[in-house]
Amino acid sequence: MAQKETSALILAAGKGIRMKSDMPKVLHMVCGAPMLGYVLETARACSLNPIRVVVGYGHARVQKEFAGKKIDWIRQKEQLGTGHAVMTAAAKYQGFTGEVLVLPGDVPLLTAETVNLLLRAHRRAKADCTILTAELNDPAGYGRIIRDGRGAVSAIVEHKDATKAQLKIKEINSGIMVFRGASLFGIIRELKSDNAQGEYYLTDVVTLLKRRRKKVAAFTVEDGREVLGINSRAQLAEVGRIMRMRIIERFMEEGVTIVDPENTYIERDVEIGRDTVILPYTVINAGVRVGRGCEVGPFTHLRVGTVMEDGAEVGNFTEVKKGLIGRNTKAKHLSYLGDVKIGADANIGAGTIVANYDGRKKHLTVIGRGAFVGSGSVLVAPVKVGKNAVTGAGAVVTRAHDVPDGGVVVGVPARPLKKKKTEKKKKKRR
Ligand code: UD1
Ligand code: MG
Repeated sequence: MAQKETSALILAAGKGIRMKSDMPKVLHMVCGAPMLGYVLETARACSLNPIRVVVGYGHARVQKEFAGKKIDWIRQKEQLGTGHAVMTAAAKYQGFTGEVLVLPGDVPLLTAETVNLLLRAHRRAKADCTILTAELNDPAGYGRIIRDGRGAVSAIVEHKDATKAQLKIKEINSGIMVFRGASLFGIIRELKSDNAQGEYYLTDVVTLLKRRRKKVAAFTVEDGREVLGINSRAQLAEVGRIMRMRIIERFMEEGVTIVDPENTYIERDVEIGRDTVILPYTVINAGVRVGRGCEVGPFTHLRVGTVMEDGAEVGNFTEVKKGLIGRNTKAKHLSYLGDVKIGADANIGAGTIVANYDGRKKHLTVIGRGAFVGSGSVLVAPVKVGKNAVTGAGAVVTRAHDVPDGGVVVGVPARPLKKKKTEKKKKKRR
């Protein structure tokens, strides 16, 4: 899309005081990824370049989280406001003739489509600044868009500085604004901090630009929820809920049955094949892959690194971590399966526990195709249960005591099942 050079300038230096957290705000997680990750992804999807991120509070942690991601980091040592953050970046844009899209780091629901629409509107209007605005039923906390008699934007007033009449305005500033770079950096140093918060507000550039007879335009996003900012734990939960519904709706469109969307938690970067049924109270973490025609839940937790092959079923109160569950294999009740590789057509009995952790290290358990693991078995890793092997109910298969293919073990510790001699003799006599 970017015919001109369009840079993304992402503001992520704030502490996020309203979060009441020791962690930088932009690292708080939304559906399995830090909120800043979504904003970066959107910037990339729109081919914005270069991508610059202003960091300050907890900068080392933020940079570490996104190490190796082709980001030009800018350090704002003191967080004196969004306008000050842009001022800090000004040196990097000397001689820059393109556009600058300013993105707050706390708006993870923003989509690439909306950014592209904003850029298009900005170019069509040949504006110096175009603000992405939204109509919100509850505009509390946001900057309000002030329009003049002819409907043109004349200013943005922050919630804390607004008059009673201005607080009634429902059109808000999303914090997302695109600028002709030269226009922005030509006036940025004129910002003042004489306001309720004693901060340099980026939003004041609107008034400065208007004074210079520059063109300020606005583009209103269709679905206001896309630009919800996260400033508190309540907003974190609300945005998380919307993101989760987006993910779930996409799966339903692709042919996955989700019986109770409100009570299903699927994070980002998950794959689920068609005709799989997800039963209520299931949690599927980022990166998990579920095949076609599977059944997951109710009350199931599929954690990082888990793969379920086609037709596999994992059910009631079962947790899988870094587990490969083979084709048509069933683990339907009360199990912990961590660091396991299970072949096809196996049955994992109720209450099977894989003891993968010896207090220092995690170890692998391999269960062969067609194996039958009896109810209440404990498999102490590293250990292998062979193809078509059987463990008796309550067996404790100790570490390194592999069960051979077709073998049957029982007891604590588990030993091969021997048929009693007398039994054999009896048989012979017959
Ligand atoms: C800002 C806007 C407000 C808008 C809202 C939309 C201003 C003054 N206000 O308010 O009009 O409705 O976003 O969500 O711009 N940041 C820095 N350095 C700083 C201060 C902030 O990098 O010195 C970063 C923060 O990390 C954050 C972003 O800028 O990612 C926005 O800051 P925040 O404090 O959340 O602004 P809001 O009060 O939400
Ligand atoms: Mg905010």
